[in-house]
Amino acid sequence: MNASAEPLVRFIEVSKSYDGKVDAVRALNLEVEAGEFLTLLGPSGSGKTTTLVMLAGFEQPTAGRIFVGGEDVTMVPVEKRGIGMVFQNYALFPNMSVAQNIAFPLMVRKTPRAEVEQKVARALAMVRLDGLADRRPQQLGGG
Ligand SMILES: Nc1ncnc2c1ncn2[C@@H]1O[C@H](COP(=O)(O)OP(=O)(O)OP(=O)(O)O)[C@@H](O)[C@H]1O
Ligand SMILES: [Mg+2]
Repeated sequence: MNASAEPLVRFIEVSKSYDGKVDAVRALNLEVEAGEFLTLLGPSGSGKTTTLVMLAGFEQPTAGRIFVGGEDVTMVPVEKRGIGMVFQNYALFPNMSVAQNIAFPLMVRKTPRAEVEQKVARALAMVRLDGLADRRPQQLGGG
């Protein structure tokens, strides 16, 4: 198959159980195209965060495969996936601004400053938070 015809992200029959009894995610099939803006909407406990942490690699699926750019990343460790995740309530640095929180992983990777600024601006604009770049996390509403 032509690799460029592959969706950017593909979940195939992905299931996750944390306790071996209840399915947090059950047989999820999902395709996301490059440039697509996708929102997961569902009741609390329906598996939205579990889906995202499996994509980033913080959790492994109990069953199924996850492909990114046509490559099977199901067992690729989090630090080798190159996927970032900004959490809503935790894993944010309270002493850093919104912009600094987003820039941090790029700084750790020694990305040139100009590139960091450009990428942070792009990410903030994408989620319409550009006006709030200098606020601290506790100065923001939940969403
Ligand atoms: N680390 C964990 N250990 C055990 N069970 C978990 C863990 N994380 C989530 N769960 C369970 O998995 C199910 C899915 O939870 P998840 O957090 O993915 O839902 P969510 O859709 O993100 O909910 P919310 O809208 O409240 O953020 C729930 O039953 C939850 O209790
Ligand atoms: Mg959640």
